This record gives sequence, C-alpha cells and structure tokens, in this order.
Amino acid sequence: MKNEKKPYLLTLEAGEYYFCPCGKSNNKPFCDGSHRMTTLTPFTLQLSEKKQLTICGCGKSKNFPCCDGAHLE
Ligand code: FES
Repeated sequence: MKNEKKPYLLTLEAGEYYFCPCGKSNNKPFCDGSHRMTTLTPFTLQLSEKKQLTICGCGKSKNFPCCDGAHLE
C-alpha cells in the first residue's frame, strides 16, 4: 500500500480483512480489487476478536499491514 504518509488507526471487529497492496484502492487501506492489473495480491488478516490496529499507509513497513514507524524516516 502506498500514497499515504501516516498510518490508519482502525478498530476492527472479528473477521477477515484484505488490505490494499498497490495503492490504487478507492477504499484504502482496504483492497477494492484495483490491483487486478498488477502482479500484487492483497494482504489477508484474520482477527478472532475485536482489535485496535495501526495500519501502514506509506508502504514502507516491514511488518505490513501494521505500521512499524518507517513512515517517520
Ligand atoms: S505508515 Fe507505513 S510504517 Fe507507518
């Protein structure tokens, strides 16, 4: 995921989530299928319970989809 310079702070219910791998989604940070014209695949995250997450918006995190502070570099 690219195009944002800061993370998304989200509270997500239990379930399966797909995060944008290409930066083209109109529903960032979630995948909307825009990556179809690329070789990228969305990152899948399964949550067994409600959780607060800090999701990377810059595409530089080494712990994607979670922010690792790389946007500060
Ligand atoms: S937003 Fe990408 S590392 Fe924080």
